[in-house]
Amino acid sequence: MHRLLYPLLKPALFQLEPEQAHAAASAALRAAALAPFGPAILRSEFCLADPRLAVDCLGLQFPNPVGLAAGYDKNATLVRAWPLLGFGHAELGAVTPRPQPGNPKPRVYRHPAQETLQNAMGFNNDGLDAVRARLQRTYPAGIPIGINLGKNKDTPEADAVSDYTKLIQGLDGLCDYFVINISSPNTPGLRGLLNEAFIAEVFGACLPLTQAPVLLKVSPDAEPDTIVGLCRAAVDAGAAGIIATNTTVDYALCPGAKDFGGLSGRVLTERSFAVFQAIAAELYGKTTLISVGGIDSADEAWRRIVHGASLVQVYTGMIYKGPGLVRDINAGLLERLEAEGIATIQEATGAAL
Ligand SMILES: Cc1cc2nc3c(=O)[nH]c(=O)nc-3n(C[C@H](O)[C@H](O)[C@H](O)COP(=O)(O)O)c2cc1C
Repeated sequence: MHRLLYPLLKPALFQLEPEQAHAAASAALRAAALAPFGPAILRSEFCLADPRLAVDCLGLQFPNPVGLAAGYDKNATLVRAWPLLGFGHAELGAVTPRPQPGNPKPRVYRHPAQETLQNAMGFNNDGLDAVRARLQRTYPAGIPIGINLGKNKDTPEADAVSDYTKLIQGLDGLCDYFVINISSPNTPGLRGLLNEAFIAEVFGACLPLTQAPVLLKVSPDAEPDTIVGLCRAAVDAGAAGIIATNTTVDYALCPGAKDFGGLSGRVLTERSFAVFQAIAAELYGKTTLISVGGIDSADEAWRRIVHGASLVQVYTGMIYKGPGLVRDINAGLLERLEAEGIATIQEATGAAL
């Protein structure tokens, strides 16, 4: 049914401002997840359970490799809904220690011809205390839950480490993995922290505070060698894995792009894959790799997996194709396994390397 429903709903959602559409879709999903037969209906529509899709990595069991990328559920208000849509994991946040409003609106744009989004949200979120209170009611959720950690805009860069340590102290025990996010283009100076010294310092300070795996999320906007060097520094400092990539500020990729914020979706696909490949060439087998950026089909997810991704994540593809994308990707991955004669997704990981 979802194949019929989303094409009907999408024109109405796309009549709204992107943030209003996000709020409407989120409210509908929350209501559906709470309705008497809602969970059962959502599960039968959207979930695809098959042991061949299961992935064991980061010391966690993932029912399938397709996760929700950070930024959709910034405030942990839909934690119970994500497993009902068939996701194998969900990354919440970015959460910052104190609540903050983010950048002035409008700050999200659609580029429908390129199936691309452009956002300059600036870590709008309810802050650590509110997110902790919600997770105390909703965690564990049946699938691994990650939390993407951000720095408050007004925290001086010299004190940035303490924002990440505060978040880990406040949220430890309420999620399955943490992500140090210093790759968003929308917090002034944040990408300036993407340097080896800061990475060593922040992982050195964070790792003793939790048993949960802590990963680094990187930007696609530097020379591949530089990005790989940052990833290597993170792994040397004890990072459990790398998430590649965040949005790009290469506006030349998208005709009609604004000159602020970050681009996600189709125009990011090849850039994100190239960066992922460079990282995998150096680090596959040495750490856990998660690929995100312009993934909107089973073929693209398969490409990332055989090139070394244990897991993939989606955001923009779900906006353009609907939440049935998760099931479609998983169904397509099973077809690829059968076509290639490979028993499980876990075995397919890195098969092209
Ligand atoms: C509106 C919006 C908000 C986002 N917020 C975050 C965030 O808070 N933290 C983060 O690490 N990535 C954030 N992202 C980036 C996504 O997690 C993802 O890395 C990027 O969009 C590429 O994936 P996609 O092409 O599937 O969207 C955001 C993306 C969008 C579109």
